[in-house]
Amino acid sequence: MIHSKLPKIWYGGDYNPDQWPKEVWDEDMRLFNVAGIDVATVGVFSWPALQPDEITYTFEWLDEVLDKMAANGVYACLATATAAVPAWMAKRYPDVLRVDFEGRKRKYGGRHNFCPNSPTFRLYAARLAGKLAERYKDHPALLLWHINNEYGGHCYCEYCEKAFRVWLKSRYGTLPALNKAWNTSFWGHTFYDWDEIVLPNLLSEHINNEKTTFQGITLDYYRFQSDSLLECYKAEYREIKAATPNIQITTNLMGTFKPLDYFKWAEHMDIVSWDNYPRFNTPMSLVALRHDLMRGLKHGAPFMLMEQTPSQQNWQAYNSLKRPGVMRLWSYQAVARGADTVMFFQLRRSIGACEKYHGAVIEHVGHEHTRVFRECAELGRELNQLGDSLLDARTEAKVAIVFDWDNWWAIEMSSGPSIDLKYVDEVHKYYEALYSQNIAVDLIGVDTPLDGYEIVLAPVLYMVKPGYADRLKAFVERGGTFLTTFFSGIVNETDLVSLGGYPGELRPLLGIWAEEIDALFPHMSNQIVMNQPLEGMKETYNCGLLCDLIHSEGAEVLAVYGSDFYQGMPALTRNRYGQGEAWYVASSPDADFLNDFVWQICAARGIEPVLSTPAGVEVTRRAKDGIPYLFVMNHNDTAVQIELETTSYLNVLNDKHYTGTMALAAKDVWILFQVQ
Ligand code: GLA
Ligand code: ZN
Repeated sequence: MIHSKLPKIWYGGDYNPDQWPKEVWDEDMRLFNVAGIDVATVGVFSWPALQPDEITYTFEWLDEVLDKMAANGVYACLATATAAVPAWMAKRYPDVLRVDFEGRKRKYGGRHNFCPNSPTFRLYAARLAGKLAERYKDHPALLLWHINNEYGGHCYCEYCEKAFRVWLKSRYGTLPALNKAWNTSFWGHTFYDWDEIVLPNLLSEHINNEKTTFQGITLDYYRFQSDSLLECYKAEYREIKAATPNIQITTNLMGTFKPLDYFKWAEHMDIVSWDNYPRFNTPMSLVALRHDLMRGLKHGAPFMLMEQTPSQQNWQAYNSLKRPGVMRLWSYQAVARGADTVMFFQLRRSIGACEKYHGAVIEHVGHEHTRVFRECAELGRELNQLGDSLLDARTEAKVAIVFDWDNWWAIEMSSGPSIDLKYVDEVHKYYEALYSQNIAVDLIGVDTPLDGYEIVLAPVLYMVKPGYADRLKAFVERGGTFLTTFFSGIVNETDLVSLGGYPGELRPLLGIWAEEIDALFPHMSNQIVMNQPLEGMKETYNCGLLCDLIHSEGAEVLAVYGSDFYQGMPALTRNRYGQGEAWYVASSPDADFLNDFVWQICAARGIEPVLSTPAGVEVTRRAKDGIPYLFVMNHNDTAVQIELETTSYLNVLNDKHYTGTMALAAKDVWILFQVQ
């Protein structure tokens, strides 16, 4: 539990006092208090302000800021300031600068611009983190550590290349093992010396950013880069932990962010935090998926909403405003899905450079009489009122969806069968079917224990890591329902095909053999024709993208393809295995199929919606000390009627009683607690 110092939903966000004259700081404190803001993330991009040259450190301004915050009841989420390197460092030590995918050495500029294997960066970043930790370890304002910021990206410099070889040596031990893992006899790539291995980018194996001629090499490079950045994080973590063993440490993640294997990262984080910036057309279900994924990283532990905009972003093509009520609604959506904090980027809007048109609690006008400020202050008041009632509450799900970064990378770098195959899209399709029916789901990694789940869905489980097929078999044997799809069970962890027929190691579990895989053009579709429609299902649905041509090897065929030369071949199968069953969906179905089908398999196991509601209303349940709270959120632009039947609830947001049929206003939220 991270909340002992401030036992409520933390409320605040990124604050950059070093971009402002001191006279403004007092006004900031006044406004924070008016808005109910009690946490400010300080120092994220303050490296040059804290270290103007190689030997000088200037902490005095930060002393003053933190003292002021402490005096005003505002806690610090203290950043280590290493997310953008100082210009002096880049000038003196060019090794800190990255080389891009096209092999070009970057000049100083931008941010998140450091090479993760730069000796200079590693040294100075850890040193700064250590100095901050020593200086502020007993500061009353210190609440939490925020290492760096949104780690990400890849570097292709010589330091990285050398470090890659070292990483490979420790992974494979010998060159023959590596040659085998990468299948280097293909195109005569056999390596006889570690120095012959070069990093995979546009100058070597790549056709473009995504596609590579050697998936094994690129896959390892992705892993290595994720690990390299993680090493940077860990170096700072160690410094801080030594000085402040009892203060929690995080770094802000970004949801479905491809370059970093967050399951691996989360093992080294005291608490997961993430930045939620949906695009104007991001479906709410995808935002929900990301929250659930962030909750899943530490097996259900609450996470932090570290950043969201109070109103608008600056980096999209069209930066529309969050409509009245939407900031509040989306804040509660985060809480509903496991967040114990609500935080913004940014508290005060900067005057220059690219984020001056990014929303802030305090706008350029400088006072509190704005729509955005009023909405923020209203939410601040509500969160204060909630106190600690929801902290550390847990979500209980009987359904899990497997999400794996290695699998994601491997699928999308593979040459064929279709450039339209996008892992997150396929996962999201299944997720959406559950989401739209208010069925609780956990996003889990391949190392997450499966006990406790009744249904495990693993869309496009292309890569099956060692031991995973056995764990899935054991899960089904004990009575679980497992589902996977087309293009699954194909390769091992180095992207080498498992011989003997697809879906490889999953073949006995699924009771099928996939002989061929057809890729459909975007305008093409096939049909899933149900043999005997399951109750509540139509006779025919559409499917597309990829169609596996499968044969049953014991599995029951519930549906077949409706057209093309494989008309009549199985499109949906179920294999009874031990006490449970394993489903195979041989193509990518339309949303209708998924809604109906997912409903079926949940109903068969008695898994029901948290609450049945009209479309566009999201409902979750978080329970604390055995007491469940229902979050009912209306994403629609109009009011809806919610059927609560005879149960009587109290809405903790307004202390009113609810029962029977009640109107939920557009964009409104209830947090209901059952009273009888
Ligand atoms: C990210 C960063 C912030 C800010 C916001 C703007 O999340 O962490 O520093 O740039 O984006 O949306
Ligand atoms: Zn590098």
